[in-house]
This record gives sequence, C-alpha cells and structure tokens, in this order.
Amino acid sequence: PRTAPILVASNRGPVSYTLGEDGSLTARRGGGGLVSGLSAIGPESGGVWVCAALGEGDREAARRAGDSHLNPGDTGGQQVRMLDIAPDVFAAAYNGVANSVLWFVHHLLYQTPVEPVFDAEFAEQWAAYESYNAAFADALAQEAVDEAVVLVQDYHLALVPAMLRERRPDLRIGHFSHTPWAPPDYYRLLPDDVAAGVLRGILGGDRAAFLTERWATAFADCCAAVLGAEIVRDGDGDGDGSGSGDGGGMVTAVRFEGRETRLGVHGLGADADFLRERSRQADVDERLSTLRAQIGPGRKSIVRVDRTELSKNIVRGLLAYRRLLETRPEWRERVVHVAFAYPSRQDLAVYRDYTERVRRIADEINEEYGTEGWTPVALHVKDDFARSLAAYRLADVALVNPIRDGMNLVAKEVPVVSERGCALVLSREAGAYAELGEDALVVNPYDVEGTARALHEALRMSDDERADRTKRLAAAATSLPPQAWFLAQLRAL
Ligand code: G6P
Repeated sequence: PRTAPILVASNRGPVSYTLGEDGSLTARRGGGGLVSGLSAIGPESGGVWVCAALGEGDREAARRAGDSHLNPGDTGGQQVRMLDIAPDVFAAAYNGVANSVLWFVHHLLYQTPVEPVFDAEFAEQWAAYESYNAAFADALAQEAVDEAVVLVQDYHLALVPAMLRERRPDLRIGHFSHTPWAPPDYYRLLPDDVAAGVLRGILGGDRAAFLTERWATAFADCCAAVLGAEIVRDGDGDGDGSGSGDGGGMVTAVRFEGRETRLGVHGLGADADFLRERSRQADVDERLSTLRAQIGPGRKSIVRVDRTELSKNIVRGLLAYRRLLETRPEWRERVVHVAFAYPSRQDLAVYRDYTERVRRIADEINEEYGTEGWTPVALHVKDDFARSLAAYRLADVALVNPIRDGMNLVAKEVPVVSERGCALVLSREAGAYAELGEDALVVNPYDVEGTARALHEALRMSDDERADRTKRLAAAATSLPPQAWFLAQLRAL
C-alpha cells in the first residue's frame, strides 16, 4: 500500500494466466502499445499497473496474490495488481455497460437492427459498472504514494477519475480514451444519468486525453451539451468567461463546477523497432511461405487484420471486394483477399452473429467466383500475431475501413513492416486518417461502391508510387511510438 509514484489502470492488463489441470498457473505477457509503452518507466520506477482478472486463471492468480503484486517474473518486471471482481459484477460492467453501451455509442453502432435498450436490466448493469469502477478507485487509492500520477485507461473506467479524486485529492489523475468519442446528438441517446455520470467521472481528473483532436472536441462538445460546462479553446483569454467554445481554436480544457480539466491529444504510433525485429523472426518467415503458397504465384493480395468487431466494418469490406470482382473481371484469379478476423467479445450475441455473417459472406464469394486453382477469400479466424506480421510483409494492398475507430494501429503497422510497399485503403473515420490521410486512398466506410473503386486503384498503383507512399506513411505512423506516447502523458500531468 501507498508505494507507487506512477500508476496505470486498465480493464485488460499486461499479463494473463491460464490455469492448468494440476493447479499450476502459466503467465502470458500481452502485446500491444500500452504494454510496451509502460515498460518505458521500467521496474525500478516503482510503478504499479492495476487491472481486472479476466479469466479463471487470472482470478486464481489474483486470489493467490491477495493484496500484493503479481510475480514480476510473469509480468516483465512490472508491478501488477489484478482485481478479482465478482464474476457477475464484472460481466455486467464489461459486457453490459462498457462493451455494449459505451463502445456502441462512441462507435455509432446503434443503427437498426442494433438498437439501444435501457431497461431494468441495464439499470442493474449500470450499478455494477459503478461498483467495478469503485473497486479500481479503492485499489489505486491504496497503492499510490502522496501526489502520485495515475493514468486511467478507456471507457471501462470512465468513473474512476472522480471516484479517485474523492478518495485521494492529492493525486494527479489523467484519463485516456482509446476509442472515438460520440458527437453530442448521438451521445445523448444514453440515459441522462449515464450520459452525465460518464462525463463527470472523467472530468474528475486533472486531464482527459484522446487519440485525435476530433475525439477531444467531441468530448468537450458533450460536456457543454449535457452538463452545460464551459469549453476553453486556444486563444481564449483566461478568466473573462467568454470561452464560449466557438472561437475556432483547439479545445484545451473544460471548466465545470469550479474546476478545470485540461484536454490533450496524443496520437499513439506504431512501435517501429519492435515490429521490424519481431517480423524478421523464424516463425514469421514460416508463415510467410505458407501464405505465399496459399495466395499462389503471380497473384496480388488485399490484406485486412482486425478483431471481428462490428466497428471494423468487415462485412462491407467483403462486399466491396465482391463488387470489385464483379465490375473488374480482369482481377479474377489474379488477387486474393486475405482477411484475418480474430474472435473478440464472444460473450455478446451481436458479436457472435457478426462473426457468422463474416463467414457466410466469405463463403458466398468463394462459391460464386472461386475456381479450381483459386479461392478468392482466405478467411482466418484463429488469432496469430506472427501470421499477421507475415501478411503485413507481403501485402500489396491493406484494407482498413472501420465505421469509426479511435486510431487503428493496423494502418500504422503495415507500412512499417511491408517489404515491397503496400497501398493503404483507409477509412476517413479512423483516427489514423488524421496522420495518414494524405498518402492513403481514402474511403467513406459506408460506401461499398467507392471502396471497390479504391481497391481497384490500389491494385493498379505503380511499384514506385506504392513504395514512395509507404515510406511517407511509415514515417507518419511512427512519429509517436508507444514509449514516447506514454511519457508525453506523464509529463503533461
Ligand atoms: C479496444 C479498447 C481496449 C480493449 C481492446 C480489446 O482497443 O480500446 O481497451 O482492450 O479493444 O478488447 P477487449 O474487450 O478484448 O479488451
């Protein structure tokens, strides 16, 4: 207790455990930007990462550790405390509130036939979300030394900043959103107490940060629309009360109930050193040969890598590819769509249904257009990072067409790993568009016809142009690597 000068809080932590039949626990270190970003501060800093126990193995590890930290040998030297939150509370908070309601609202996923339901069950789930957030606030309050810095991550933990400030007013608290933020008219489909509760929760911190200016602005607009808070912009004189939010400058803070919460933007970039090193390892080489054989000699590839996630818009990507084959018969037998759609959030029925639809449409395309020596769509659903890297190496075209996405790191990773240059077809609704828009072929994600045309352009792009664009994309994609991203937030607090 009270030893940590720097703390990170997130639902998913840097390590996960599997429980063996003999009762043994095997640790697996997670990948991803946040994990490598946190390693920037090193074990000697005394930092502590607080996360939730996700599976049975995690729960067992959390129970065995009690209030102390997990074995640093498991966690890559980080001090990690896993919270063994009651399974029904966790399920309601994680599946019911965070991954259904909050995820859906920020990604604008409530469109017929997926409709919002705010009934008695939701009211119970919301209460569970509050107690799940309180469990994090309690643990952080216990762990943090005086005036420690706490970095709270994502929509799962929106209430933590305010709850933590109540318990420990001495701390410096930041919240970071890895998702987009919904515009006010859409955000207000949430029940009023939920809409206000989430905003008040985040405003309880000293700082709220986002992946792009667009999401930061939407957050500030929601604060104004829902709470009547005041937006402060660049160039607003301070103290004259005229920071009315229409000055046109960048949003810099939100004032509410006598406090000011600063806003920040940190566009998380790809980890070039890690990716280049990792993508040259033997397991990746091996998968590269397998993929090459599967695609077939002389054929081009259109690659996508996603969690099977409604916001990633995998179905419209497949429909656009079908349209390409229909309208540009010259590509038949000459291209393969390699689609990695890794299972995600399978506790939720809409995700299971979506996964089914993805499979069905891929099968349909293969039946419709496939020939003896050519399978138009190669769909892979088993999670395999080494195979994703192999696909990045060989891709001629990368398709990144989310309906909305906080950033999308695939768009940033492909240009770094690509061997011969890769044309990027990119949705204008991904956060990455702000940094990569100039050298990508930009699409409206709802426009299947336009996406099919962009795929055609991408396939036709000359080798030189592709290589030039890829070089510029890689430079833009790596301008803020995970460690710098993490340190920038620390410094700003
Ligand atoms: C998004 C969220 C993360 C989350 C990840 C995977 O990127 O911003 O907070 O960890 O999706 O989702 P999962 O539900 O598997 O943690």
